[in-house]
Amino acid sequence: MKITVIGAGNVGATAALRIAEKQLAREVVLIDIVEGIPQGKALDMYESGPVALFDTKIKGSNDYSDSADSDIVLITAGLARKPGMSREDLLQKNASIIKEVTSQVMKYSKNPILIMVSNPLDVMTYVARQISGLPEERVIGMAGVLDTARFRSFIAEELHVSMQDINAFVLGGHGDSMVPVVKYTNVAGIPITELMPMEKINAIVERTKNGGIEIVNHLKTGSAFYAPAASAVEMIESIVRDRKRILPCTTCLKGQFGIKDVYCGAPVKLGRGGVEQIMEINLSEDELKALQQSAAIVEKNCRNLDTLLA
Ligand code: NAI
Ligand code: 2OP
Repeated sequence: MKITVIGAGNVGATAALRIAEKQLAREVVLIDIVEGIPQGKALDMYESGPVALFDTKIKGSNDYSDSADSDIVLITAGLARKPGMSREDLLQKNASIIKEVTSQVMKYSKNPILIMVSNPLDVMTYVARQISGLPEERVIGMAGVLDTARFRSFIAEELHVSMQDINAFVLGGHGDSMVPVVKYTNVAGIPITELMPMEKINAIVERTKNGGIEIVNHLKTGSAFYAPAASAVEMIESIVRDRKRILPCTTCLKGQFGIKDVYCGAPVKLGRGGVEQIMEINLSEDELKALQQSAAIVEKNCRNLDTLLA
């Protein structure tokens, strides 16, 4: 396996190191537009190998030819939010960056799986798919795993139980309209509604929806990166090891949930082929409506890019 990470900033560098530490690839290439940053960070990570016990080669570069023949490309390039900004404020600028980056990647790798991170996530996944021309199942967005990790961690904290025992899904677009699905949330199989009053569940749902901005308001200079990087690497691991995990990822829905040809977060089976199945679960009427509204917002933002993508 060769994995390239585009964007050597907070998410990209953290993800590259996790990929090496988990030995998910023979070679990791870290690419950024800024000279010196990917080279310096990659060398520093590589030098941690004898202590952290990995043999993965890590190379930093500004040249896309170094990404040649990648199996997976993780795309984190672009601007991050600062306090007062919504993810949509990044739309036009990041769309231009993703257009350029995806074209460069496709010059050197024939059939990679692209994992998107840059925001606004669902729209950037659409942009990468349009520009790459790759099959839909090979262009996947990371957001649901992160939003669900936040939801799970808040529930575990409230109930004083292991995070591992919390099963949940946050679906929909990665924004204020995301849909934490209470119906499928359980603790070791026990429905969450039997363990917590509804008002507490609603408070955790709200905190989850604002999970990104909570971190931005603390950091002030950028947005979250440890949990995002861990989430992207969980997706990569399921693909590399063909684990066929069922994870909430952004994928192109084809009529599931009454949503057609829109990139939106849904439960999918992730394996060597990328998205191998979209799981159409039964949602409550309110949750289904919320999911469809969330997809409509993504679709509207995609239409705002028609000129850029023409
Ligand atoms: P960062 O600012 O630390 O890193 C971004 C990197 O992209 C910088 O090193 C920059 O030089 C590079 N870059 C900019 N333009 C480029 C280009 N044309 N080619 C190659 N590299 C380029 O930002 P961070 O925190 O790593 O976030 C990256 C993106 O991921 C942001 O858009 C952020 O909103 C998004 N994000 C999405 C999450 C999700 O759940 N989907 C979670 C966390 C971040
Ligand atoms: C987050 O949710 C920035 O979208 C990113 O933290």
